[in-house]
Amino acid sequence: MNNWVINQNDFDIQSKKFYESIFSLGNGYMGVRGFDEEEIRDAKHEINTFIAGVFDYYAPGKTDMVNSPNFWCTSIFVNGERFAPERGEILEYNKELNMREGILKRKLIWKNEQGNETLIETTRILSIDSIHNAVLSINITPVNYSGEIVIETGIDADIWNNIIDDDQVKTSTNFCRLFAEDGEAIHIDNIHIIRLKTTVTGLKIYEGFSSEVRHGGSILKLEQNIVQREKYVADKFTFPVAKGEVYTLNKFISVWTSRDKYAGSLEDQVLQSVKTAKDLGVAAMIKNHAAAWERKWRISDIEFVGDNKSQKAIRYNIFQLIQTNAENDPYVNIGARGLMHGRYKGCYFWDTEIFMLPFYIYTNPKAARNLLLYRYHTLNGAEENARRQNVEGARYPWMSAVDGLDQCDTWDIGLSEVHITADVAYAINHYYEATNDIEFMRDFGLEILIQTSRYWKSRFTYDSRKDCYNMLFVKGPNEYGGVVNNNLYTVMMAVHNMQLAKKFIKKIKTCYSEAYQLLAEKLGFKEDEVRQWDEIIEKVVINYDADKSLYLEDDNILNLEPLDLSSVKEGDRPLYRKICFDRLQRYRVLKQADVILLMLLLSDKFSTKEKLAAWNYYEPITAHDSSLSYGTHSAFAARLNMMEEAYKYFIKSVCLDLDNIMQNTQEEGIHFAALGASWQAVINGFCGIELEQGNLKINPHIPKQWEKVSFRMYYHQCLLKVSVSSKAISVTYEEGEPDELQITVANQPVLLLKCKEEIISIR
Ligand code: BGC
Repeated sequence: MNNWVINQNDFDIQSKKFYESIFSLGNGYMGVRGFDEEEIRDAKHEINTFIAGVFDYYAPGKTDMVNSPNFWCTSIFVNGERFAPERGEILEYNKELNMREGILKRKLIWKNEQGNETLIETTRILSIDSIHNAVLSINITPVNYSGEIVIETGIDADIWNNIIDDDQVKTSTNFCRLFAEDGEAIHIDNIHIIRLKTTVTGLKIYEGFSSEVRHGGSILKLEQNIVQREKYVADKFTFPVAKGEVYTLNKFISVWTSRDKYAGSLEDQVLQSVKTAKDLGVAAMIKNHAAAWERKWRISDIEFVGDNKSQKAIRYNIFQLIQTNAENDPYVNIGARGLMHGRYKGCYFWDTEIFMLPFYIYTNPKAARNLLLYRYHTLNGAEENARRQNVEGARYPWMSAVDGLDQCDTWDIGLSEVHITADVAYAINHYYEATNDIEFMRDFGLEILIQTSRYWKSRFTYDSRKDCYNMLFVKGPNEYGGVVNNNLYTVMMAVHNMQLAKKFIKKIKTCYSEAYQLLAEKLGFKEDEVRQWDEIIEKVVINYDADKSLYLEDDNILNLEPLDLSSVKEGDRPLYRKICFDRLQRYRVLKQADVILLMLLLSDKFSTKEKLAAWNYYEPITAHDSSLSYGTHSAFAARLNMMEEAYKYFIKSVCLDLDNIMQNTQEEGIHFAALGASWQAVINGFCGIELEQGNLKINPHIPKQWEKVSFRMYYHQCLLKVSVSSKAISVTYEEGEPDELQITVANQPVLLLKCKEEIISIR
């Protein structure tokens, strides 16, 4: 079994959309759904090509991620018949995603209505070595005939956005085109460039390509025939073919936008970029791309011995996380469906900070820093959100795009799911503890912490009768819980946010007093404010049943009507598909982990007894109707040594898209938070990687299905290799600055020396 490859062996029209999601490719700069080259233009919304950070307004104040021209589009005609797998007959079929090298291949034999059998082999990459480039190569071999082949390959700019409603039960039929121009093409040196401009923001998107047909090692000298109509440009090649001979179409694509940094004109940039790729040729482009993937995998791979299903699935999760992250761009983030689908309009949620970010913190700290810088760069928007809600400071939006203003359409979610502000603060500290990047805290982190703490100060409401501060009208992570008072997750994360601000005010003031003074002046910050935060921290409302050691989700949970989940839940299908949200909020049923997630994030604030009490109370009533939930439950159970539950939930999370657990991968694309949650279940859950005040602790419990699990991680800029089996933990400090590193393994202090493996046995 090859655990690096995802296969589709049968061509089945019914599962087409599902595989289009699974076979999505990306390189951080752009992402494309896995639709085939010959796909015709009537399924408009499924032909998705997204470029990171390219949004435009479809209504005042409301953006969508702009669906950009399709650069794969290629039609093949065999003796006059247009190739389409659903016509004629497919005699053999295999589509495979090689995750190790980031290559998507398809191999099939198509028999047309005249009985001509043609072997078609396609190969495509979105280069992660040269992020503006994509390459397509198609081998065509006539199996049982000699005749004529026509290939038309180009760029199709007749592309529309399907504005998808935030409500998952609504079908969205609102199509709109976000381009001001019709994509007039220019042609220079056999390179064709389509030029577009978005309607409101006026962002320019230029896509160019050049193509060639090869036979027997050389380029065929064919008459160049350019097909051009509105919103479309293509090369058309007509040539005779002989039975058994291989003919190859190569296409070199380049995409640039006015968001990018370039010298000269955008046309010149695209031209140059296509030329460079073409000069290198397909083999070298693929080789460089695969080498870049190899470098990524060296740091990011997780190896399981003894569990093929988990092995392949975790690689798929990691593959998607890597290929969707614009690691060098501090002005973009990662959407809930990545760059692969228009659901949630490409918006960024807490999904990044709480679920995905840890993967980057430990495998690519620079990428993690840039993801957090996006929050710094949208701090103005967060301040504006707070002003619009008549509160102080900065309130991060539930759904964020270009400017940090809230993109959410539903008031009870957009305006009430305020915990995201504290999630951003939590993530900043997590990054700091794992990297020691104090300059980040000085230049960016502290400002966010102060502004968000100011928000919390004005978001709590003082109750003079009880001398306490209530967190009124909020929605916690459990979106079935309605708009409630004193949601524990929100309250405790807000308190944590203010405590972090206090901690870093002290730290930065001590280490960088001048920078601190400048920041205090810029924000008009007086230390008196800290006293107000202290008062709130002391007097927040926490619902706790001391007899049962049970933390309650909010003020309301005990008032709700009990619901026997097994009587209503059909498999893993979300309940909101059959019971409306209004009704759901009166049942004592959780959409997703809430208190459990809090206990995972702020683990040291709760005793084991309290964690077990929470598990026993909340686990049976959690529907896992959000993809974010399974991974959290897995990690939590693993930390409590409940291995069967931990593994069961891990499989649900890690196979969420590959096994279509939510039954919506076909319509919604890949669930990015679940990818990150699965990674955390392995690393922080089973392998027990934990930071306590910035000190690394490893305390694993691995399931019986794994003989061994190995991975690499960065800790304080040092690269460690960790292997865990049921008997021992091995840690090697592979690269980094200091000669030694102090960590804790299985509750024992361990001093790591550079390049020396330490083996700690587990009793
Ligand atoms: C979940 C949210 C999540 C959003 C985007 C919703 O279904 O309940 O927690 O942030 O999807 O993934």
